Amino acid sequence: MLRFVRNYPWIALFLLSLLTVGCGDAICTSRRCLAEMLINKGLTSQPQSEYCSHEIRVPFIEYQTLSVDTKNLRLISRLEAQLEWVDPELKWDRSVYNYDAVVLPVGKVWTPLIIVTNGITSTMKHSSDDLLVLSNGTLKHSVVINTQVNCEVNLFNYPFAYDSCPVAIESWSKDSCGSKLSFETVYSADGQQGDWKTESANLYHKTDDRYYIEVNLSIKYTNPFITLLMPSILIILADMVSFALPLGGGERNCFKVTLVLSFTVFLNILNDILPGDTACSPVIRIHFCICLVLLVLSMLVSLVLTRLANDGSIISCSRSKGTVPDNTGNRDKRENEEAEADISVVQISGPEEDERMLKRVVNFLEAFDSEKMKSNKNFRFADKIDKIFFGIYSICGTIYFIAMTVVMVKYTCEVNHFEFWY
Ligand SMILES: *[C@@H]1O[C@H](CO)[C@@H](O)[C@H](O)[C@H]1NC(C)=O
Ligand SMILES: *[C@@H]1O[C@H](CO)[C@@H](O)[C@H](O)[C@H]1NC(C)=O
Repeated sequence: MLRFVRNYPWIALFLLSLLTVGCGDAICTSRRCLAEMLINKGLTSQPQSEYCSHEIRVPFIEYQTLSVDTKNLRLISRLEAQLEWVDPELKWDRSVYNYDAVVLPVGKVWTPLIIVTNGITSTMKHSSDDLLVLSNGTLKHSVVINTQVNCEVNLFNYPFAYDSCPVAIESWSKDSCGSKLSFETVYSADGQQGDWKTESANLYHKTDDRYYIEVNLSIKYTNPFITLLMPSILIILADMVSFALPLGGGERNCFKVTLVLSFTVFLNILNDILPGDTACSPVIRIHFCICLVLLVLSMLVSLVLTRLANDGSIISCSRSKGTVPDNTGNRDKRENEEAEADISVVQISGPEEDERMLKRVVNFLEAFDSEKMKSNKNFRFADKIDKIFFGIYSICGTIYFIAMTVVMVKYTCEVNHFEFWY
């Protein structure tokens, strides 16, 4: 080797210089080296330009309603946003590193923060651990935002309710510094969540930097209609038809009490589903209240008329109280007594005694007849009132139901959803 160096010094020198160039000063141009080079720059602060704010493009947002909490008026949703921004210092020279793009770990470069302004909770997660950097300094990334928005949904028309809830999206900024979002399209995915349906999600803005996604929601009315509205109609209908039961007997009153009790079950269901008082309280609550009043009223009228039919008087006083048992149980007893008296007296009585007895019997029968006629009169009177009440009840009930349905479907109640932007 030494002899070689001694003999060909120029060649050795040339080889040596080749070695030094290859190992030391030569730039490693692999994609990995490019990534390391960019990471080593340590650019974890926001790209700064002469304007304090930096523009973040949001070319695409996928909006999805996860659920709507009717009881607490919460809208729980998920947003997946694609982000693009430019960091001029992450450019590279294509003549050195001949690559269009390189993958960098998220934590090694600055990433913008997206928040939901009116969210009670809003958590942003990176949808991947890496992001893409293009050779001209453009960064491409996507984030997932889970949020719970307090939205006072207008439930006035429940179960035909529909409303729009804003989901306001912004990035951090302070006094014209920070990030400025510029949105392009919003796509709404998968519109059915329990009883609610997401009709649409569109992007609007109030001022230049106040962007929001307007989510239009509507209730799928089949379920609440079947569990709440229809039973209320059917129970009132059953109550109307129960006027066909005989007035005097107890069955009708028992039936009406049963109806009132079964109605309270639906009242409970209603309370479980719907929230407390809000600006636009559901009108179905008032409807249930009116239905209950109607049922109780009809029950009370029926009770009073039963009394009227039996006694001829509504107010219970001693006179009418006395006649009731006379009509029924005591009458038999007295007849028996009379008969016994007849039997016991018959053997010893003379003709004048006979006549006295006959008179007593005739008197008794006459009194009994007049009593019967009176009670018949009472019954007819009560029956008449009953028929009149039934007529009024059915007409008013039908008109009420039509009016309530029209109000429920047509009336619109306005709620201001933008109170968070004061
Ligand atoms: C960077 O390159 C991409 C793809 O070639 C292009 O879409 C984008 O507009 C470029 N950005 C700038 C700031 O030139
Ligand atoms: C969403 O609802 C609002 C009012 O509730 C309405 O003005 C708007 O037109 C609806 N948007 C769509 C796309 O239907």
